[in-house]
Amino acid sequence: MSRARPELSNHRIDIDRLMGRINELGTIGALAGGGVSRLALTDADRQGRDRVLGWMRELGLAITIDRIGNVIGMRPGSENGAAVTMGSHIDTVATGGLYDGNLGVLAGLEVIAVLNEARIETRRPVAVGFFTNEEGARFQPDMLGSGVHQGALDLADMLAVTDRDGTRLGDELRIIGYAGDTPVGAYRAHCFLELHIEQGPLLEEAGTTIGAVTGVQGISWTEYIISVVSNHAGTTPMRLRHDAGYVAAAIAVEARALAGDFAGDQVATVGVTRLQPDLVNVIANQAVLTLDLRNTDDALLTRAESRMSEFIRTTAAREGVEVQSRRLARFAPVQFAPEMIEAVEATAAALGHSVRRLPSGAGHDAQMFAPNCPTAMIFVPSQHGISHNIREHTACADIQAGADVLLHIILTQAGWRLK
Ligand code: GLV
Ligand code: MN
Ligand code: MN
Repeated sequence: MSRARPELSNHRIDIDRLMGRINELGTIGALAGGGVSRLALTDADRQGRDRVLGWMRELGLAITIDRIGNVIGMRPGSENGAAVTMGSHIDTVATGGLYDGNLGVLAGLEVIAVLNEARIETRRPVAVGFFTNEEGARFQPDMLGSGVHQGALDLADMLAVTDRDGTRLGDELRIIGYAGDTPVGAYRAHCFLELHIEQGPLLEEAGTTIGAVTGVQGISWTEYIISVVSNHAGTTPMRLRHDAGYVAAAIAVEARALAGDFAGDQVATVGVTRLQPDLVNVIANQAVLTLDLRNTDDALLTRAESRMSEFIRTTAAREGVEVQSRRLARFAPVQFAPEMIEAVEATAAALGHSVRRLPSGAGHDAQMFAPNCPTAMIFVPSQHGISHNIREHTACADIQAGADVLLHIILTQAGWRLK
């Protein structure tokens, strides 16, 4: 089927400037062997924020920081009104790469730099933002800042969440100097666009440069704490075992079996297991584990949750252990606006890039905007499909392609002329 090709301007992003910023931000929280660790609201996150804020100032953006620490830089339009908004996150997992999140923020700044350099006046304001604790690696849930920003999560509840050590998010925000005073929940974007690496293998496998993201799969995160009285590993006969470690392992095995039985898009991961006292000759008296279930179909995700709950209940009863559970995150699947998906496809094709539709396996700030404004994501390939890993890599040419698609959609959405 042929589709109308959008008129393209001659403007293009400057890949050297964009890569320069990606690499410079990658020096903050740098890990030996490559990659970065900038867990949300740590000192490294503060330094990363300071650097991006500095770039926003250099680009002449009007900066606001809201009460959950989201930062928005705004370039005025010739008319007032809701901004055409770009953004993502600069926090990382503890084993992060240089691109996850950072690309969407820094490509947004690159778009602003092109507008400034070419003396382009847009009709609508154009904004770029980064949102607090997208990763959910330190504080749960993930997409926490954008969730509060878009009214899906409660500010007071989110300020009160604690990390593994019991540290409150609100306290950390104050300590790093990013507890802003802009109210949350009032920002309405004209539309939202997020450029992101795919973080999976599909684009690379298909030899495709641009992904037009159709939506984000549902996400369910639960923490389980399994408790029992510990005993001696050598003297306790198997018939008398009450083993928290065994139950944790059984849950991980069942999660894998469930994903196989559900087939299709179901994925299941036990990402955390911590045993106590964690000694070779002591039967564990406590296991803390997390279960991450995702599916593009909410009914199937709910069935997966029920099957795991039932399995955990019966296994714990049989083993004679206590189980407490705590929901860390639950987001329904999200569909992006059809006209925005089409805009990504048409713009990529007009720029001469191969493009295909795909859903996102990872959570993203864009999913929080999607219920409130037309939203799209542009994916670029991840080498070997690797992400949340210091080896995360995307080819320069693909970054350039993705950022050019972003630039041209922004120009179309914002309306523009030369000053
Ligand atoms: C967040 O980035 C997630 O998908 O886990
Ligand atoms: Mn991300
Ligand atoms: Mn991530």
